[in-house]
Amino acid sequence: MSSAIAVIVVAAGSGTRLGHAEPKAFVPLGSGTVLSVAVDSVLGMRETPHLVLVVPGDRVESTRSLFAPVAARAAAAIDVVAGGRTRQESVASGLAELPASVDTVLVHDAARALAPALLFDEVAGAVRARRRGIVPALDVVDTVKRVSVDGRVLETVDRSTLRAVQTPQGFPRSSLDHAYATAHGEFTDDAALVASAGLIVDVVPGDVRAFKITVPADLHRAEQLAAERAAAATPAASAPRIGTGTDVHAFADDDGAPLWLAGLEWPGERGLSGHSDGDAAAHAICDALLAAAGLGDVGQVFGTADARFAGAHGEVFLAETRRLVEAAGWRVGNVTVQIVGNRPKLAPRRAEAEALLSRVLDAPVSVAATTSDALGFTGRGEGVAAIATAMLLPRG
Ligand code: CTP
Ligand code: MG
Repeated sequence: MSSAIAVIVVAAGSGTRLGHAEPKAFVPLGSGTVLSVAVDSVLGMRETPHLVLVVPGDRVESTRSLFAPVAARAAAAIDVVAGGRTRQESVASGLAELPASVDTVLVHDAARALAPALLFDEVAGAVRARRRGIVPALDVVDTVKRVSVDGRVLETVDRSTLRAVQTPQGFPRSSLDHAYATAHGEFTDDAALVASAGLIVDVVPGDVRAFKITVPADLHRAEQLAAERAAAATPAASAPRIGTGTDVHAFADDDGAPLWLAGLEWPGERGLSGHSDGDAAAHAICDALLAAAGLGDVGQVFGTADARFAGAHGEVFLAETRRLVEAAGWRVGNVTVQIVGNRPKLAPRRAEAEALLSRVLDAPVSVAATTSDALGFTGRGEGVAAIATAMLLPRG
């Protein structure tokens, strides 16, 4: 499996301007992250490339395990390496990783997550046809002024010769290797670095979807585009789909632990144990929703490694699950969940639980309960089980 083309995705920045707790490439987007959406585009290329993901040093291992199944599914090589202090250092780390078979290299900002696969194909095709650097670029539509440091307008710049450049930027491998080996100073993109080595770089038409996620408003726009892309890629989104989910939690050894079930706290009842609050009903509903949308299951989506969900209540899981299924082009039709256990007695608070869950999912949720006639672990009072069914409707 040796590809002639490689794509280096730089994702080692911190995303200061986005102001999110996670580094920018690891911020949730659509049903994945900024980085995984970018990788999806790359893997949509006509020719399967050798992929190198350049990530923050402390994310190398987790990124490697996250993308191993993706690589296997796409029959692509995906290497993960640590980036540097600047974008240029990060690209250099990626370059150092390329196998000898590679003759064409595309460098891409993970932050331009929605750049379509076709743009990668076009840049790669132009590099091969013209044997020089190729960068996608858009005309500048605004009138551009040169101003003084204190904000006085000095002149209007002739915009007809200006272009706003994007990524992926493509180069013959030998040019990029040479330019990086001889570079003096810092450049904000690879085209500038390659041009500084005296090599020719051409522009080709860019794509508005290749905009860079920089500030929070950009993430908003990306979320909308990601939802559209997911909806377009889900042909089944024209018919309803159902899913089922089950969950079991044991009662905690600690007598003082509070019980959370069906999104409610139950004072005076013995708590359930678990990485989160042990709300078996909420988790079964999440599984049913994810199954209906074909998005995997709770364990996969909310790994126990994700600190956001440690000790979180059912409502948090349900809200995030709703966001994911909506991003994939669905809305919740209705949900039913049945709790199996001796305690708590549901009836007095059924309406309260249904109202809360219905509000979180913006759809009718029915909650039922039963005992298991003193049989099994639920009958012995060792824990609680829950079984949920969810129906999703196309959002359109
Ligand atoms: N990048 C990188 N290594 C760095 C700095 C940036 O790999 N040391 C990557 C970013 O992850 C991003 C791309 O280069 O995909 C473009 O950079 P930018 O949009 O500036 O991202 P950040 O540097 O993360 O954001 P900010 O400048 O707001 O901190
Ligand atoms: Mg930056």
